[in-house]
Amino acid sequence: MANTGNGGAPLIEMRDVGKQFGSVIALQGITMKVNAGEVLALLGDNGAGKSTLIKTLSGVHTPTQGNILVEGKSVKFTNPRHALDAGIATVYQDLAMVPLMSITRNFFMGREPSSGFGPFKSIDIGFADRVAKEEMGKIGIDVRDPTQAVGTLSGGERQCVAIARAVYFGAKVLILDEPTSALGVKQASVVLRYIAKAKARGLGVIFITHNVHHAYPVADKFLLLNRGRSLGYFDKAEVSREQVLEMMAGGKELDELTAELEEFARADEGTGGLEAGAAAEAAMADELRQESERVHQHPD
Ligand SMILES: Nc1ncnc2c1ncn2[C@@H]1O[C@H](COP(=O)(O)OP(=O)(O)O)[C@@H](O)[C@H]1O
Ligand SMILES: [Mg+2]
Repeated sequence: MANTGNGGAPLIEMRDVGKQFGSVIALQGITMKVNAGEVLALLGDNGAGKSTLIKTLSGVHTPTQGNILVEGKSVKFTNPRHALDAGIATVYQDLAMVPLMSITRNFFMGREPSSGFGPFKSIDIGFADRVAKEEMGKIGIDVRDPTQAVGTLSGGERQCVAIARAVYFGAKVLILDEPTSALGVKQASVVLRYIAKAKARGLGVIFITHNVHHAYPVADKFLLLNRGRSLGYFDKAEVSREQVLEMMAGGKELDELTAELEEFARADEGTGGLEAGAAAEAAMADELRQESERVHQHPD
């Protein structure tokens, strides 16, 4: 199923990648791979280098050291267009959506065919509305009226519009910058379910998050960053959720760690602490597994 296209080469690979801004070392010695049909969770505190890492993959920054390979070929992106053309789509945290504009307009934003060929001699609004509705329907979000403002959708659904448009426009790799961080359990599960679906379709996903509860059920690989360096790149089979949590907490004072755990519990939307968070995670993992089986049996 997971067709890697080029003799089994990973979709994306970083070899000893580093990025310096003047004397500031934002990234150093980063090595990792993402295969087709895999989710890599990128974890780390503020300032760890997560944004810098994805910006080197999406053509915003050029690495000052090391190599990036796409399907086995070395690439040098010097602008975001190059990354997009190579099938690497990044959904940033702030989403770049216009709440007052329609779902359809947001779906096609920046992709409106200007040169006029194919199905869009002039922008065919009827066609665009139909595509937006259908694509959202495929991921289980029933948009009755695609002309309704994006601002009327829930946070999870808005994230899904951004992801759906990247998939529709041919992304092979999805980079998602903290797509669930502002969402409660229920909304986050809408997004996580979609990540599982993208993975089942053979896309590679790089999922940036602070929340191990969100990362653990969907991720196949983990890359932990701390102050620009890798704390490790792990296969899920090699690490438990507790070990990931511990590594993220590594070196912190106990009270700082306790405060953070309490924050995890709160982020799991007032349902009664860590135990409820873990229960929600187990339920989600179960749902994701079923979803993945379903998609394998009936693609689309
Ligand atoms: N354009 C830049 N110029 C100088 N320093 C930067 C720049 N971008 C990021 N940094 C520095 O690199 C480090 C990693 O930042 P960042 O990648 O944003 O971390 P994260 O996304 O994990 O919070 C920080 O110390 C940050 O100050
Ligand atoms: Mg960041």
